[in-house]
Amino acid sequence: MKIRLSMAFAAAMMFASAGAYAQAPITIKFSHVVAPDTPKGKGAERFKELAEQYTDGKVKVEVYPNSQLYKDKEELEALQLGAVQMLAPSLAKFGPLGVREFEIFDLPYIFQSKDDLRKITDGDVGKSLLAKLEPKGITGLAYWDNGFKVMSANTPIHTPDDFLGLKLRIQSSKVLEAQMKALDAVPQVMAFSEVYQALQTGVVDGTENPPSNMYTQKMHEVQKHATLSDHGYLGYAVIVNKKFWDGLPADVREQLERAMSEATTYANDIAQKENDDSLAAMKASGKTTFYEPTAEERQQWIDTLLPVHKEMESRVGKDTLEATYKALGR
Ligand code: LMR
Repeated sequence: MKIRLSMAFAAAMMFASAGAYAQAPITIKFSHVVAPDTPKGKGAERFKELAEQYTDGKVKVEVYPNSQLYKDKEELEALQLGAVQMLAPSLAKFGPLGVREFEIFDLPYIFQSKDDLRKITDGDVGKSLLAKLEPKGITGLAYWDNGFKVMSANTPIHTPDDFLGLKLRIQSSKVLEAQMKALDAVPQVMAFSEVYQALQTGVVDGTENPPSNMYTQKMHEVQKHATLSDHGYLGYAVIVNKKFWDGLPADVREQLERAMSEATTYANDIAQKENDDSLAAMKASGKTTFYEPTAEERQQWIDTLLPVHKEMESRVGKDTLEATYKALGR
């Protein structure tokens, strides 16, 4: 009797826990540092929508924008510890993780167009860069666009001569540091969430960002001048905690891969328009004066910044740089 009762109890417990398992959704916390109304913010929301739909509610995605949970450096640590499952950091922020090769994306004038960029993100170089994350306990899923950057400051910055001594905020990339030094500016690494206040209080004089980030953080309210220099690119790698990802049931992972692939197409399709609209809105506000360099001035920018490639060859890796040039047909 005793045995029969305990068997019945065990069976009931198994049934209860199986039921609980079937009902409790798997939660993906997706943390990021920009506003919801940006290419990345919208991409994250689209992924959430599709992931929940394709997994039929088995997965719940919680998106935390605007550094609500973690700032730049902390979010990578949180991902490795499993406190969050998904991020999309800028490609300029992988250096502190020990994967310096991602900084090829920061080289000034490396891409002349989005077509150039795709040759890297959709090709062997892009794949091999994501593979370098695996030993760090991270799986790379996709590349998402933001766009080409503008330079901003409180004084006109039409040519490289205008940068002497300006304190400029950068992301945590040695290539960006070298770029600012080539302009005779003083680079200062700072978390994205702190940039508005640093500009407002004069801790830094200026910065660089695609228009969508500049506008949604209201940087145009605290920057008098900006130059449409298109001197560099800012984009993202969507990454997940590898242990979490590998531990998902295979069918769920496939559904999430499908959601990610469609969210990637969406995010990359809207990125240019988001930036165009943000630029138009900032111009209309009249707070920042936007300057389009002449062909001669643009050439001065190129002549000043191109030597950064050679200077940073050992940082980004000779092989990676050569493979990048080859893929770009240079
Ligand atoms: C920055 O720190 O300027 C950007 O990386 C922010 C972002 O995620 O676009």
